[in-house]
Amino acid sequence: MNYILAPSILAADFKELGNEMKKTEENGAEYLHFDVMDGMFVPSISFGMPVLASIHKVTNQVMDVHLMVQEPIRYIEDFQKAGADLVTIHLEACRDVKETIEKIRLCGLKAGLSICPETEAEAVKPYLKDVDMVLVMSVHPGFGGQKFIKESLDKIRKIRQLADEQGLDLDIEVDGGIYLSNVREVLEAGANVIVAGSAVFGGDPGKNTKDFMEILREYE
Ligand code: DX5
Ligand code: ZN
Repeated sequence: MNYILAPSILAADFKELGNEMKKTEENGAEYLHFDVMDGMFVPSISFGMPVLASIHKVTNQVMDVHLMVQEPIRYIEDFQKAGADLVTIHLEACRDVKETIEKIRLCGLKAGLSICPETEAEAVKPYLKDVDMVLVMSVHPGFGGQKFIKESLDKIRKIRQLADEQGLDLDIEVDGGIYLSNVREVLEAGANVIVAGSAVFGGDPGKNTKDFMEILREYE
């Protein structure tokens, strides 16, 4: 299994974004995580296609797009054109989850399915064989810098078990409140893709990425 760091640019200093991103790439972060918020599914509004399109030109990192958007099916093609490689939608935001996943596939992208803290692990079961990744939210979506919800660890374990039962080589990404101090618990529960916003961009993004990568490599 591949262990991957996905720094969330939501926590970056946007006037320094180009430099800060580069430092994460140079130090081994394979993904770059984009938190797209629509002010409907979540209270806040972040950024959208033009920001991705601009970043796409200057990075080799996998563009990991987390759509916190109501009815994301409306925007999949736009994000594909803007350079997304992997698009994750929220189960709670879709009228038809299956159709939305199919749309991501039709656009030639990798598909992720995310669940909020109040959604049970079992809810993803019917879709596991159709997605590349499940994203477990370990905070309530909408803002960076929140405290990790401990119950998420059981949910990660349960989803890893469901995937194993179906013989699936599923990526499990975890997002929210992850720091060097608790990332081991998340990895040990069965996750392999780690989103970190504040823990990477608060301080020196190069050094923080390097420190995370040292831990991730212990699990390979
Ligand atoms: C929350 C976002 C997260 C967030 C993570 O809605 O999905 O990606 O930016 O931020 P930290 O790592 O600061 O909790
Ligand atoms: Zn996210």
